[in-house]
Amino acid sequence: MSSTERMNSESEFLPGHSDQLQLLMRAVECARNGIVITDPSKTDNPIIYVNPAFSQLTGYAKEQIIGRNCRFLQRDDREQPAVKELREAIGKEVPITTILRNYRKNGSYFWNELTISPVKDEHGRVSNFVGVQNDVTARIDSEKRVQEFYSMISHELRTPLSSIHGALTAVEDGSAGRVNAQVMRLIRIAVDNSTRLMRLINDILDWKQLEAGKFKLTLASFDPQQAVASVVRELQATAEAKKVVLVPEILPHHDIFADQDRIVQILSNLSANAIKFSPPKGIVTIRLEAPASDTIRFTVTDHGPGIAAEQMDKLFVRFQQLDSSDTRKKGGSGLGLAICKAIVELHGGNIGVSSKVNEGSSFWFEIFS
Ligand SMILES: Cc1cc2nc3c(=O)[nH]c(=O)nc-3n(C[C@H](O)[C@H](O)[C@H](O)COP(=O)(O)O)c2cc1C
Repeated sequence: MSSTERMNSESEFLPGHSDQLQLLMRAVECARNGIVITDPSKTDNPIIYVNPAFSQLTGYAKEQIIGRNCRFLQRDDREQPAVKELREAIGKEVPITTILRNYRKNGSYFWNELTISPVKDEHGRVSNFVGVQNDVTARIDSEKRVQEFYSMISHELRTPLSSIHGALTAVEDGSAGRVNAQVMRLIRIAVDNSTRLMRLINDILDWKQLEAGKFKLTLASFDPQQAVASVVRELQATAEAKKVVLVPEILPHHDIFADQDRIVQILSNLSANAIKFSPPKGIVTIRLEAPASDTIRFTVTDHGPGIAAEQMDKLFVRFQQLDSSDTRKKGGSGLGLAICKAIVELHGGNIGVSSKVNEGSSFWFEIFS
C-alpha cells in the first residue's frame, strides 16, 4: 500500500481535528493510569493538567494539584535514588521510567512506577512534559515478601541445618568419640537426610541467584584433576553404600580458568545422579580429557536405565524430573541439572547428554579457555 493510500484509509477511521481532540481528552480522562502534564516554561515546572485517575491514586482533588510541582508527592522522602534520576532526565529532556515511593493525601505510601516523556512542539522544542503514574505497590510488596522468604531460608533454615549436619558428621567420622553400631546406623540415616536437605536448600538459593542474574563466578586457573579428585572423595561413601564403583579416568589435559567450587558442584551433581541411577555393583566413570588445546571436557557415565530420546530435552529444564515412576522414586529438587546448565553457560561452556535406554547415560560438559 502506498503512503497516500495508507493516509486515505487511515482518514476513514480518524475523526476530524476538533473531534480528535475531544476523543484524546476523553481517552486521557478515562485512562486508569494517573496522567499529568507540566509546563517547564513556568517557574518550577508546575502541573497544568491532571486526569481523574491521578486524583484517585493520590487522594488529592484537582484544585489541590494544579500549579504545584509533582515532588509534593514525595513529602520528606527525598533521598531516593529515583529522585536524582528524575531530576537528571528532566534536565536533559529525555524520557525516563523509574519507580519511587510517593505519599497519598492520607499519608499512606505507594510505589509509583513513573514514566515521564518530553512533549515537543512543531519546532521540535520541548514545550511540556507528560507523566504517567502506575501504582505498583502490590507487585513491589510481594517481591519484598519473596525476598524475605529467601532470606529466611538462608538464615533460619540453612544456618542451623549446617550446624546440625556438622555435628552429625563429627559423630559419623569418629571425631566426636566412639558410638555403638546401633547409634551409628541412626547417625548415618540422619547424615544422609541432612545432606539431602542441605543440597535442596542450596539448590533453591542458587537458582534464585541465577534467575536474578546475580550469580557471580570466582575465576582462577587450576588443574581440573583436583575437581575430579574432590568429587571422588566427597561421593566415595555414598557410592560404597550403594555398592557402586567410582572410577576416575584422567586423560592428558591442561589447566582451566574457571570457578573451581562451581566445577566441583556440577561434577558432583552429575556424579551423584549417576550413582543414584546405577544398579548395584554398577560402575560410574568420571572422565577428564582435553579434546582440543582450548577445551576441557568432563564426562560422567553410568550403566543405569538410560533416558528415552523424547525425554532428553526436558532434562535441563527446572522442575522437570522425567516422569517414569523409576526416576520419581529417586527424589531430588528438580533443579540440579538446570543449575548445572546455567553455571556451565555462565562459564561460556556447553553441557549435554547421550544415552541409550537400558544401557546407561553419559553426561558431559566442556569448558573453553
Ligand atoms: C510530567 C512529570 C510528572 C512527574 N510525576 C511525578 C510523580 O508522580 N511523583 C514524583 O515523586 N515525582 C514526579 N515528578 C518529578 C518531580 O516533579 C521532580 O522533577 C523530581 O522530584 C526531581 O526534581 P527535584 O529534585 O527538583 O525535586 C514528575 C515530573 C514531571 C515533569
